[in-house]
Amino acid sequence: MRDKLHWRCFADAGAVAGEALARIDSLSRQAIEARGCFRIVLAGGTTPERVYRQLRALDTDWSRWHVLFGDERCLPADHPDRNSVMAARSWLDLVPLPAGQVVPIPAELGPQRAAEVYEPLVREALPFDLVLLGIGEDGHTASLFPGHEHPDDRLVVPVFEAPKPPPQRVSLNYPALCATRALCLLATGAGKRDALRRWRAGEDLPVARLDCPVDVLLDEAACEGVVSGAD
Ligand code: 6PG
Repeated sequence: MRDKLHWRCFADAGAVAGEALARIDSLSRQAIEARGCFRIVLAGGTTPERVYRQLRALDTDWSRWHVLFGDERCLPADHPDRNSVMAARSWLDLVPLPAGQVVPIPAELGPQRAAEVYEPLVREALPFDLVLLGIGEDGHTASLFPGHEHPDDRLVVPVFEAPKPPPQRVSLNYPALCATRALCLLATGAGKRDALRRWRAGEDLPVARLDCPVDVLLDEAACEGVVSGAD
């Protein structure tokens, strides 16, 4: 599993965002050229917002893009803390991407019902071309948290009692997150250092259960004492 991780350190969060943007640009061009569409799964949280803002200016055929979400918080559909609202305000509402091709997780229905609704939508979208993820300070990714077990045969799972508020969420499960041609995990800031160090040490963290190649893009603050340069 460790040989599937590719770690890259960049000067700062802006450089991490620049690298992520370059990879999204390249992967989308390849996918559209080869298969006529680009299927991307978005990360939530705050780290990817800088990337989403820069995507506004991407020179691409937005009619070929299909956007899904790696996880969502069980809040009203227009709540400012929703991952879908963050992506819409920073990027998706500002480009001519056909509305029907942005597929938010209906987390306002509650964890169980939303997971049931989103599961078939994920299944028909597989394999993805790119999955974007973040990592929490406890080693969670998407809304897959330490101590939470999920059945391997579910692509989308309900999450209760999440340690990161809100407590109720919906998340793509490990097999769905890995059913992709590329997976990029972005981590910036010293606060992620401990989780990254534990991940590299082989601890059974949620992020370590991603059984597929992961490109880990870090800024210097997250890299310090964890990774030297790249490996
Ligand atoms: C969420 C995210 C979550 C996030 C990490 C990192 O809904 O909160 O899906 O997994 O990616 O917690 O969050 P930051 O980018 O804000 O550090």
